[in-house]
Amino acid sequence: MKKFKSFSPDNTKRIAEEFAKELKGNEIVYLSGELGAGKTLFIKGMAKVFGVDEIEVNSPTFTLMNVYKGKVEIYHLDLYRLSPEEAEEMITDFVGKGLIILEWGDRLKDDIFDLPGFFIEIDIINENERDIKIEKIEK
Ligand SMILES: Nc1ncnc2c1ncn2[C@@H]1O[C@H](COP(=O)(O)OP(=O)(O)OP(=O)(O)O)[C@@H](O)[C@H]1O
Ligand SMILES: [Mg+2]
Repeated sequence: MKKFKSFSPDNTKRIAEEFAKELKGNEIVYLSGELGAGKTLFIKGMAKVFGVDEIEVNSPTFTLMNVYKGKVEIYHLDLYRLSPEEAEEMITDFVGKGLIILEWGDRLKDDIFDLPGFFIEIDIINENERDIKIEKIEK
């Protein structure tokens, strides 16, 4: 488990970039943290590493899923309004096709996909400060 402290939105994006540099692009990333924690911001940083403009990256709260075409395809889902069963069904279609990133990933309790993966938790400390924990899922 790796722990980081972020003191600004840019700081969070840089932490996300450093993390994403270690990825191949076939992983699943479960992001958790309350409203406004910085989940989408973290994904902007990750996407940049795969050649996707951060302006393209937005919370797919209403569309459920965004797909970004970079060096790999990135499937960005928001599980806030989905049941675990619905989420699982949507995700299954993209397993092995690219990088899968889930906001509210803690809503999928078990890691059921046969993919290398990470759990990331962002905790709000105060207006500008966040604690970020990155944990590799051991198989
Ligand atoms: N250190 C920080 N890291 C990340 N975001 C920060 C930080 N400090 C302040 N912020 C602010 O917190 C907000 C994070 O928004 P973001 O949309 O990324 O959150 P989210 O977790 O995706 O929320 P939601 O659950 O609504 O999708 C932004 O307005 C950002 O400017
Ligand atoms: Mg978001």
